[in-house]
Parts: sequence; structure tokens; C-alpha cells
Amino acid sequence: SHHRVVLGVETSCDDTGAAVMDETGSVLGESLYSQKEVHLKTGGIIPTVAQRLHREHITTVIQQALAMSGVTPNELSAVATTVKPGLALSLGVGLEYSLKFVQQYKKPFIPIHHMEAHALTVRMIHSVQFPFLVLLVSGGHCLLAVANGIDDFLLLGQSLDEAPGDTLDKVARRLSLIKHPECSTLSGGQAIEHLAKQGDRLKFYLKSPMGQHLDCNFSFAGLRNQVTQVIIKKEEGEGVQMGQMLSCANDIAAAVQHTVASHIAKRTHRAILFCKAKGLLPQNSPTLVVSGGVASNQYIKKTLKIVTDATDLTLLCPPSKFCTDNGVMIAWNGIERLREGKGILNHIEHICYEPK
Ligand code: KG4
Ligand code: ZN
Repeated sequence: SHHRVVLGVETSCDDTGAAVMDETGSVLGESLYSQKEVHLKTGGIIPTVAQRLHREHITTVIQQALAMSGVTPNELSAVATTVKPGLALSLGVGLEYSLKFVQQYKKPFIPIHHMEAHALTVRMIHSVQFPFLVLLVSGGHCLLAVANGIDDFLLLGQSLDEAPGDTLDKVARRLSLIKHPECSTLSGGQAIEHLAKQGDRLKFYLKSPMGQHLDCNFSFAGLRNQVTQVIIKKEEGEGVQMGQMLSCANDIAAAVQHTVASHIAKRTHRAILFCKAKGLLPQNSPTLVVSGGVASNQYIKKTLKIVTDATDLTLLCPPSKFCTDNGVMIAWNGIERLREGKGILNHIEHICYEPK
């Protein structure tokens, strides 16, 4: 084909992803190996284990994406790879592989910022123009930013402690939701969403975080602490052993999901009002883009929709498979950079690139 073609590589956390995309944004080939099941068993990501699994799978994942695309390495215009932020040991695997690859085939290298890739994924599907407001919520990320251009972001707020997906994962683990037959294969966040549907959020009162903070930052650690106290009290009251499921796990799930949703919605509301006051967003049809694993939560999305409806913003969310970590979003960021001629390294052999 006459189109330029990019190979995207993602290994920043626990997903080994690769994709081949042409400059029109068509995915020609893609492959993803998720380590989530392994990490679910150990109750969290052990960086050395993640590194080993990336090493074991990266060749296959990249070869599968290339084979599916029918594009040979020589036909590629560039290789785009996540270089930060993320787990250093995980990032290193994708980076090392990519640098060898671009040296072998003499291709330009495009270093990709993982968060920017998350933020721009939406433009693959919707024609959303800059500037727009973006909310990233996942197991490792929690931030609000104005996207002014492909490499121009204004950070409005971020989590002062942990990310909401991390909180939901830890609460799910503390509630032993993995023992529930309907939740055994779900991530913590998915398990909470599932059980919350069968629960009553009003059975437990959880204080919404940061009510006194007049900014757009987030905090979830205090909320998790509150939930742990509630669980301990219930376990004592019901005479339930730690590690057994509480009968009211569904009500606790509903309460924590609601409090996470309302905290995210309140901070987003503040960000929208700030942007309006400062004229940071377009006057007609300003947009809020929501991405990251937690963005697939329907309750959280509905709560955010109340905010965007009330402030006349359009709410856009990429499909779930693009919200979570994958190679396609990295390839897309590479295409966007190639189109604008930004951040392309042509002589990689002279550059020692180390992730921060
Ligand atoms: O984006 P992602 O795959 O990985 C990163 O953290 O970068 O997001 C995974 C996170 C996990 O914490 C998971 O519990 C959460 O997203 N998650 C959800 C849902 N699906 C995944 N949280 C709430 N509701 C969901 N439906
Ligand atoms: Zn991510």
C-alpha cells in the first residue's frame, strides 16, 4: 500500500500489546497478551514476574501483529513504543526489543508517552478536535487534563495517592469477591460493578473524599480505609472469618462504587467549571473524553453523564477494548506523530534511551 504504516508496542504494565496501523487509522494487525490472570492469583503485580512474562511473549505478540497485517518489517515507516510512565522493568522489555528492531531494519523510532496515548485514542474513532478535556481513570492512572494538541497537555489534577481501579481491586480482594462464582474471572473493578447491581448503596455511609479541597485532585486511600473499617466491623458482627465473603458484600460494593463515582464526577465537574471560566475549551460543543479501565464502568459513566449534561459537554468514551492498555493506542499515537512530524527519532543508534 502507499500509506505509511506504524508498528506500535506497549509493555508499560501487565499487558504485552502490539499493533500495525496505517496512516488512515485502520488497524491492519493486532495482538495482545494479558498477564492479568497470573497477577490475580498473586494478589497484585510483582514487577520481576511481569518482566519475565513480557520477555516470554513479546516476540510472539509482535510477530502475530505483523503476520496479521501482511506488512513486512521492511515496509514499516516507523516503530512507536511506550517509554514512560510505567513499571521500569516492564517498560524495559518493549523498549529493548523495539530498539534492536529499529536498528536491525533501520527504521525511525517514536517514543510514546503512555498517558498521552490513552488520551488520544478517542481520535481514532471520533473526530474530536483540540482542545478537549480528558479524564483518565484506571488501575494505575487518575488524572484530568486539557488536551491542546498531540504533545501539548495541561494537567488540571491527579490522584494524591492511589488510582480508583487500584482501590476497587484492593476492596474486591479484601471482600474475597474472587470466591463468588459469578466473579471468579473478573478484575476487581468488574467484580465490584457486578455485585453492586445486586446491592443497596444506602446500607452503608461512606464519606466522599476531599470535600474541602478546592482543586481538581483526587484521593482514594482514605475511602479505602473507611471501607476496610466497615468490613472489619461487619466481620466481627457476623462472626465471619477474614477471607470469607460477607453476606452484605453486595451492599458494600454498591456503596464503594457510588462513592468512587461521585468523587470522580465532582472533581470532573470542578475541572469543567474551571475550563469554562478560563476559556480553555471551545465555545461550541466542548468535549469530555473518558478513558482507562475504570471508564468501562457503566455506573461511573452514567454519573459522569449527569455532569456533562448539566454543563453542556459531549461525553465521549472509546470502546472498552481501547480504554484498557493495548498496542493499538500506541500505534495510533505513532501515526498522529508521524502525520505532524513530531517526536520521530531517525538515528536511534546514537541515542541511549532510558525510561524514567
Ligand atoms: O487500563 P487498565 O487495563 O490498566 C491500567 O491500570 O493501566 O485498567 C485496569 C483497571 C483495574 O484496576 C480494573 O479493576 C479496572 O481497571 N476496571 C474496572 C472495570 N473494568 C476494569 N473498574 C470499574 N469497573 C469496571 N467495569
Ligand atoms: Zn494504561
